[in-house]
Amino acid sequence: MSRYKIAVLPGDGIGPEVVTEAVLLLEEIGKQYNHQFDFKYGKIGGVAVDEVGTPLPGETIELCKSSDAVLLGAVGGPKWDNEPPVRKPETGLLGIRKALQLYANLRPVTLFSSLIHSSPLKREVVLDTDILIVRELTGGIYFGTPRERRVGENGVEVVDTLFYTEKEMERIIRKGFELAQGRKKKLTSVDKANVLESSRLWREVANRIAVDYPDVELSHMLVDNAAMQLIRNPRQFDVIVTENMFGDILSDEASMLTGSLGMLPSASLGVSGPGLYEPIHGSAPDIAGKQVANPLATILSTALLLRHSLGLEEEANLVEQAVDKALEQGYRTQDIGSEWERVLCTSQMGEAVRSYLKATIKN
Ligand code: IPM
Ligand code: MG
Repeated sequence: MSRYKIAVLPGDGIGPEVVTEAVLLLEEIGKQYNHQFDFKYGKIGGVAVDEVGTPLPGETIELCKSSDAVLLGAVGGPKWDNEPPVRKPETGLLGIRKALQLYANLRPVTLFSSLIHSSPLKREVVLDTDILIVRELTGGIYFGTPRERRVGENGVEVVDTLFYTEKEMERIIRKGFELAQGRKKKLTSVDKANVLESSRLWREVANRIAVDYPDVELSHMLVDNAAMQLIRNPRQFDVIVTENMFGDILSDEASMLTGSLGMLPSASLGVSGPGLYEPIHGSAPDIAGKQVANPLATILSTALLLRHSLGLEEEANLVEQAVDKALEQGYRTQDIGSEWERVLCTSQMGEAVRSYLKATIKN
């Protein structure tokens, strides 16, 4: 029996509800494949602010560092809107990404064929969408200093800083090339090189290291155009590599190709150490505690966890298949459902996925 230590950080809003389903699913996988998952729970985000006064307690960082992988729900909510930056839930999330040096954020945008009608876009546009967004996660305007509000000669002024080193660019762009090698070998590097100095360097770096990956076709796209092309013709993309904030924005946009933000998982990987797995959606405070959230993004994040942190490819594939099957059978949560489909609550959707899993393995 193999044993794995999984740090679980449910966080705020719908985080705990969707994480519960992901944990139950991993337990089922463990039972069927004879793996033992040791789940240890930690606090992050608003709940941590409320209980211990900081969104990222040192204990949580230690817990994550001593685990094989981290499963996270979501952070944030209106309750903490007026807190100073050090007590904001989001600061906890950014902090754990930084503490674990999770520079590579993989956001696969895959359309499950049975959800084609849930996308607000036309069927012929979204058909066969299969994109991997590779977002830089520990640099750029999210982390640069100075960042402040101050009073100048003309009143209040604010400053945010977009800072990158060439090395930070190189490692994420290399990751993009490597991932493209395992797919359709097309890499689109997204920047704003017509305006930003950082983007000009980004483009230079991409061109320079392209020489090491002659089998991958590299192209450059300005971020505004990329936002438009994602909606116009998503099929043109294979792997997209981009800096932190562009990746944040484009991945929310791209989620609509799949029908719902509630469907998109993510993996955040570092140089070494544990990876962190979380849905790309937020804490959705408006529906928290109501058992209506879609757990599939978090369940699909466990597939990424099994694959990227534990090397359990077969188990990962099975989780993805199980989600596919549950959708094929017409099971939906409210975000992806329409009147003629069976709309389930959060725990029922989790159960639907698990029951497929049980049935398949027994056969
Ligand atoms: C995401 C989220 C976070 C981000 C927020 C909650 C800080 O939007 O993971 O995409 O901007 O990175
Ligand atoms: Mg985001």
